[in-house]
Amino acid sequence: MRERGARRVAVEDPAWSAIPDTVTQAGLEPVAIPVDENGLQIHELEHNDLDAVVLSPAHQYPTGAVLTPARRAELIAWARRRGALIVEDDYDAEYRYDREPIASLQGLAPDCVAYVGSGSKTLAPGLRLGWLLVPSHLVGELGAQHAITRAMPSVLTQAAYASLLERGEIDRHLRRTRRRYHARRDILIDALERWLPEARVGGASAGLHLMAWLPDDADEGAISDAAISRGVAIHTLHRDCTVVGPRPPALLLGYGLIAEQAIPRAVCELAHAAAL
Ligand SMILES: Cc1ncc(COP(=O)(O)O)c(C=O)c1O
Repeated sequence: MRERGARRVAVEDPAWSAIPDTVTQAGLEPVAIPVDENGLQIHELEHNDLDAVVLSPAHQYPTGAVLTPARRAELIAWARRRGALIVEDDYDAEYRYDREPIASLQGLAPDCVAYVGSGSKTLAPGLRLGWLLVPSHLVGELGAQHAITRAMPSVLTQAAYASLLERGEIDRHLRRTRRRYHARRDILIDALERWLPEARVGGASAGLHLMAWLPDDADEGAISDAAISRGVAIHTLHRDCTVVGPRPPALLLGYGLIAEQAIPRAVCELAHAAAL
């Protein structure tokens, strides 16, 4: 994008830090655009002289907000008007619990959306397996860049994944794990209601983590340190994400790796850690 003359790229605020860091590393300027309960505030893209936007519309990381249909339409109209690229980070939408899966932006506007998917949540992050679907006019340049970076997972891993896909094993795996994670999520929400009622749960409709928003005077970092000394590892909003505008403290609670029966005890330990 930089070679094509791009300079400024909108990123979500708050964001998974790897996104603004990657934009900076590419020699581009990340421009933080706030997220609310309806996802990225699209009207803020105007008048910011942007060449692209990177966002996670299906389950914003970390807040879990879902970009509303009206904002999706607004975003695509903005990108077409401006000739800007939308990078759709669809990192965990396979896991959606309370409603039907949401269609991708890429399906609505293949001419201006680059779709990025990952096997990190559905299989394992250690596989380093991901995929890109880009507008056709970018395929040649992307191929040329790829020939230089040669950043790709092992061909064996790719072939194994393709075979799992063809045989329907990925779909079966998703159906099985969706039930398992759904149960864990419900147990986590119940345990939070019981042990940590002052936390407001958000972003729990999809993915493998939820947000527990805390009262303004809570000290996220101290809670996280106290929790780890009690054997519970958690992420926090301000420590583990890039946050530009003012936000209350919050904990990011992942349930991808914890057994159902361990969740209530972990939340009980967390509540002790929060009662500093
Ligand atoms: C917001 C977000 N995007 C993308 C990814 C996927 O990254 P990768 O495929 O490099 O593991 C993650 C993984 O944690 C993520 O949190």
